[in-house]
Amino acid sequence: MREFIYYSETARTSGNFKDLMRAGRMDIVCHVVIASFFLSNKMRDDVRLHLVFNGPPDAPKHLELVSTPEMSEFISKKDVAGLIKRMLYKYKKGQKRQVFPGCFIEKKSFSKVVKELSDQGKKIFLLDEKGDDIRQTDITNGVFVIGDHEGLPKKKKKELKTLAQMVSLGNEIYFASQSVVILNNELDRRLQ
Ligand SMILES: C[S@@+](CC[C@H](N)C(=O)[O-])C[C@H]1O[C@@H](n2cnc3c(N)ncnc32)[C@H](O)[C@@H]1O
Repeated sequence: MREFIYYSETARTSGNFKDLMRAGRMDIVCHVVIASFFLSNKMRDDVRLHLVFNGPPDAPKHLELVSTPEMSEFISKKDVAGLIKRMLYKYKKGQKRQVFPGCFIEKKSFSKVVKELSDQGKKIFLLDEKGDDIRQTDITNGVFVIGDHEGLPKKKKKELKTLAQMVSLGNEIYFASQSVVILNNELDRRLQ
């Protein structure tokens, strides 16, 4: 399983939005989901994506999407926003709720999500252009943290200081979704 965490400081934490750009840049979230799961001719069957939203009105929310054989039945590239909306609507206080096969929602903070994965023995990598070159890094058993359009907030970076290694995809600054595409390609090439 390849595993990513996308943190959005602004994405809305309720499903009552129409305009994706005004829902705390939910458009970027959709691009990240597409870049994580979709290939030209099929869906990836080995992805676990954690979306952590910190926007209003009920932050934080942790949405977890895991590749399942049934996935193509309920996730369409044309309506990723609809899926996110439905997940947010179906949230139930005090529960980690499975909304569709492999799609879970709960109230959990970014720090807690990262800490739990680190406690499971996963290696946490923070994607940052100032980090170590990913091509020279052993990324086995890695979980990759990607920031939103503003980058990961300083406070969150600080929380990761002792837990994560910073890795770079090169000197250019990419969109979050482009970073996922490059990362997926790097993982594909190493697994081939
Ligand atoms: C649009 S970028 C953030 C831009 C923001 N203004 C900044 O300077 O951090 C979104 C995310 O993509 C990842 N990213 C972009 N370019 C990268 C690179 N060259 N190496 C590693 N990660 C990168 C980082 O995780 C970043 O937080």
